[in-house]
Amino acid sequence: MRLARPAQRAPGPQLATRPMRNRSTALWIVGAFATALALAVAVLAALGAGERGTHVALQATARLAFVLFWPAYCAGALAALFGPSFQPWRRRVREFGLAFAAALLVHLGLVAWLTYIGHAPSRDTFIFFGSAAACTYMLVLFSVSHLQRALGASGWWLLRIVGLNYIIYAFAVDFFRLPASASAKYLMGYLPFVLLCVAGPVLRVTAFGQRVLTSGGKPWHSGRSSH
Ligand code: HEM
Repeated sequence: MRLARPAQRAPGPQLATRPMRNRSTALWIVGAFATALALAVAVLAALGAGERGTHVALQATARLAFVLFWPAYCAGALAALFGPSFQPWRRRVREFGLAFAAALLVHLGLVAWLTYIGHAPSRDTFIFFGSAAACTYMLVLFSVSHLQRALGASGWWLLRIVGLNYIIYAFAVDFFRLPASASAKYLMGYLPFVLLCVAGPVLRVTAFGQRVLTSGGKPWHSGRSSH
């Protein structure tokens, strides 16, 4: 008969939940990548893998990536402004960010395909959107806790402010680029994305203002990060 080991301590709550958390983060990453890939494959199958099909697949994957990016950008502000109902979003901010980065990989794969078939985007597009992609993967890299510690609280705060705002600006630039001759139906398709691009920074600035007013001038980047 085996004896129970009375002296053994139960693992602390963090140790017990970390593998589960890692598994759920991995699920978010794989899920987002698989969804973006399925979307791209479906569009290319329907419209062909030529220039037009690839452009539509780029649009579809950009929209999916945006839907994942937006909560990563805003969850902290939403929780600060509207309270506990947004706490589950806030707790998942890192997962949303990593899922966005995973979906963006498919978008970048489509860019590579477009270039391969002889319709490379312009140099300016590479520089402007390439910088947004670089910000994305810098944020991914420094979301790893020991790298983040090496960067320091102020460095991580600065990277998030610059990176996240540059990324939403890149989304806005593309979503706002509407042809003058666009039909009402076409415009309606863009409206939610345009509104969210505006609402995001407004929410963050409002939450920031509220924090400055309530913290009485204490440095706002010395506490725990929300990303
Ligand atoms: C974080 C990085 C990126 C963001 C935020 C982003 C965002 C977007 C958005 C919002 C769209 C349009 C979606 C729509 O019209 O519904 C789009 C499409 C596109 N993107 Fe990206 N993109 C990124 C990276 C890149 C890179 C690095 C390139 C190429 C160098 C690129 C090339 C394109 C192209 C060619 C299209 C299709 C344009 C069209 O057919 O209208 N993107 N992207």
